[in-house]
Amino acid sequence: MKIKKNDILTVDKYIHEALYNRRSGYYIKANPFGKSGDYITAPNISILFSEMIAIWIILFWENLKRPKKFNLIELGAGNGEMIKQIIKTFDRFLSFKNSCKINILEKSIYLKKIQKQKLKNKNIKWLKNLNEVSNIPSIFIGNEFFDALPIKQFIKKNNKWYERNVKFFKLNRPKFIDVLIDIKKFEKKIGFKISHKQKFIEYSPLAIEYLKIISKKINSNNGGILIIDYGYWGKNMKNTLKSISNHKFENVLNNFSKSDITYNLSFKLIEKILKKFNLKVNGMTNQKNFLINLGILKRAEIISKNLPFSKKADIYFRVKRLIDKHSMGEIFKVMLGTKKNVNFQTGFVN
Ligand SMILES: C[S@@+](CC[C@H](N)C(=O)[O-])C[C@H]1O[C@@H](n2cnc3c(N)ncnc32)[C@H](O)[C@@H]1O
Repeated sequence: MKIKKNDILTVDKYIHEALYNRRSGYYIKANPFGKSGDYITAPNISILFSEMIAIWIILFWENLKRPKKFNLIELGAGNGEMIKQIIKTFDRFLSFKNSCKINILEKSIYLKKIQKQKLKNKNIKWLKNLNEVSNIPSIFIGNEFFDALPIKQFIKKNNKWYERNVKFFKLNRPKFIDVLIDIKKFEKKIGFKISHKQKFIEYSPLAIEYLKIISKKINSNNGGILIIDYGYWGKNMKNTLKSISNHKFENVLNNFSKSDITYNLSFKLIEKILKKFNLKVNGMTNQKNFLINLGILKRAEIISKNLPFSKKADIYFRVKRLIDKHSMGEIFKVMLGTKKNVNFQTGFVN
């Protein structure tokens, strides 16, 4: 879509255009990761993150009684770093490796190219959509996936609900405007009482769509979904929309399509959605607990044992970024949804 003066877009359409416009979208034309990019994700900080996820996947598969055919689906694989390290770890567990089919769902053509280059000679299927996932037990994993999906925002003022929109009064100076809506009608359409006890609503329609398909797959074929993302536990939804450029926060209305736009997930809402789609929430904790419970500190000790001090320090510095409460340890949450008869708390309890 080409935006014209005075166009009005709902917030989700605005984000979609900024991030995924086929020609100018942020995720379509560049690699946002790493020092020279706009932000860095856990797999790009330390390989130990991906190793812990790989071990967790194998234990999950064992808990499902080692199905002979098993799918791993990475949702939004970025620069392919996590899956690369995960495959490297799988190489040491042959019976699991022989059972596991690896799939990636990736929207960005640009990132898909990078992934294919990084992962050449690996047996990976790039999915066009989630319906292509074969009907065998499957684990879906999204690290910073759901926070990259466009969201809608609604605000309650004087007992009336308004949807937040962006108006391009001038092409380079968009502004927020709130448009009155019939929330009951809207809730009927989405089949979800999202405004219950809320003053502000922030949610991704696409996330609900994906979770619906994923839950259906899990309920018919067994398996689960592991979500790792920026987020909060509280019941009240809040305005967390933000833009990130060059590792700093920016005004969401500045730098259209030149910076990332993201938000913090309401994990209470995700829990409600998973339950609505008949999944069981088997575990929720923060990234710090999850990685420590899986043994990241012991692994750091083992691999750094005979290394010179500078290399040892680097390993621990990176692990600290993942687990420190002032860095990613507490703001990142982890949630596991499974079929109702599955009991698996590894990583969530120590
Ligand atoms: C914030 S990045 C995280 C990347 C990676 N998981 C990591 O931890 O480094 C979000 C990823 O999701 C992809 N993505 C966003 N929307 C998507 C969609 N609707 N379907 C598939 N992939 C999507 C982006 O292109 C990007 O690869």
